[in-house]
Amino acid sequence: MKRLGVNIDHVATVRNARGETHPDPYKAALFVKKKGADSITIHLREDRRHIRDLDAKRICSIKKLNVNLEISTNKRIIKNALKIKPKYICIVPENRNEITTEGGLNLFSNKKKLKDIVSKFKQKKIRTSLFINPKIKDIKLSKDIGADCIEIHTGYFANLIKSKKNYNEELSKIKNCSILAAKNGIEVHAGHGLDYKSTKILSRINEIKEFNIGHFIIGESIFFGFANVIKKFKKIIKS
Ligand code: PXP
Repeated sequence: MKRLGVNIDHVATVRNARGETHPDPYKAALFVKKKGADSITIHLREDRRHIRDLDAKRICSIKKLNVNLEISTNKRIIKNALKIKPKYICIVPENRNEITTEGGLNLFSNKKKLKDIVSKFKQKKIRTSLFINPKIKDIKLSKDIGADCIEIHTGYFANLIKSKKNYNEELSKIKNCSILAAKNGIEVHAGHGLDYKSTKILSRINEIKEFNIGHFIIGESIFFGFANVIKKFKKIIKS
């Protein structure tokens, strides 16, 4: 069964725009779970532009909620995350000036650092994932680093679809990486820039077990509501 992870960072973006307390990401986490999300993703960025420490703490304290906390390799963030103890961790690259995560981790130049971080989370029995580009060499490195899962950055693929360009080569890269990762015992996730169309195409790859989707779900929910949008995505990833 493929799973749907809903990223609720932009609920916090809307709240922060007013500097008040509404809409509350904690409430959103409970609500999307009730509407069928298999997990919730939140990104505790170094600049705290959306989710804040208290949000992460409150959301991770919700019983029976699978929370996937995205974090960079920043020492203070790692220390915080070890204290917050989410069920899942996804390590992502972070650049202060980016609008959103722009690509996968550079595993080669950060291999030792990532190995240390992954082992710290594994000791706490926290499932740990690396956000990577669809490159064969990164699957091998993920195995060496000891990651439980990889999340393949699908932003480039999703943009090719949105701009009606040929996406076959990028799709093959994602597929080949997914197959190799699964063969090596690494669970495969996919995320970034996904909408109904790109998710539908990727859902044909058997090895992808989890989709993490944020911006499109929040945007579409303005028109159709979380319940309907989540229902539609669940149907797409099942088919
Ligand atoms: N997966 C990861 C690792 C991300 O960093 C993000 C963006 O925070 C997403 C998935 C969701 O991307 P989007 O908001 O474009 O759906």
